[in-house]
Amino acid sequence: MKRKTFAAALTALLFATGAAAASEAPKLPAQSWPFAGVFGTFDRPALQRGFQVYKQVCSSCHGASLLAYRNLTEIGLTTQQVGDIAAEHEVQDGPNDAGEMFMRKAVAADRFVPPFPNEQAARAANNGAYPPDLSLMTKARIGGPDYIFALMTGYKEEPPAGFTLMEGMYYNEYFPGHQIAMAPPLAEGGVDYADGTTATVEQMAKDVVTFLSWAAEPEMEVRKRMGVKVMIFLGVLTALLFALKRKVWADVH
Ligand code: HEC
Repeated sequence: MKRKTFAAALTALLFATGAAAASEAPKLPAQSWPFAGVFGTFDRPALQRGFQVYKQVCSSCHGASLLAYRNLTEIGLTTQQVGDIAAEHEVQDGPNDAGEMFMRKAVAADRFVPPFPNEQAARAANNGAYPPDLSLMTKARIGGPDYIFALMTGYKEEPPAGFTLMEGMYYNEYFPGHQIAMAPPLAEGGVDYADGTTATVEQMAKDVVTFLSWAAEPEMEVRKRMGVKVMIFLGVLTALLFALKRKVWADVH
């Protein structure tokens, strides 16, 4: 009898924690990304739109310090455009002949200049929360691109009944714990796309995730192409060796 109650309690506990875990991390809606899969490639116009979203929206809080401005030629920007974008920023250089550090305009070879000089400044400007560097973000979170897309589109104006939101926090369906210090970064028409695409929240989220996925692995296309070539080579080699084996053993069989 006692055993039965224990078993029932255990089952109840398992179900309860299961339900709690499920409400804690809702299932991420799977998106179809053109860059996924063995033959996946990055859509160039989407990359450029995504960079525009990063530059005009995210970069005021988030750095992407592993990228250099010249990397942007890989997504189809001209060297002139890259030079102009770099020149909008200043970096410290030096020392000069007098032994002093000085500021100069950034050039194509410089890394993306972060929005804040250090973590403390970033926190001070963001209500104590730290906007993390986005260079490797699609690799750093479970669910990667799907998670960031869900995060961008998962804000709710009102938290569900019974949920208390702390001061300065926003309710997000997909952020662990549902309280995030980042205000919804995307709003309808938030950017004016250079290519005339309508800037819906979904569109901007898709584009910026495409850009961030490229940023996290710019060599992905080369890697996949190499993989396909290797598989073709191995296939041909297997066929040749099989033919050779048949020839060598022809007299014996
Ligand atoms: C006004 C400043 C601000 C802007 C603009 C902004 N963010 Fe954030 N972001 C933050 C802060 C602050 C956090 C940390 C939130 C926290 O820890 O609660 C954050 C966190 C994040 C995270 C990490 C979430 C996690 O799982 O830890 C991602 C991803 C992110 N932002 C992406 C973006 C993207 C993409 C954009 C542009 C479309 C953007 N952010 C624009 C301030 C900003």
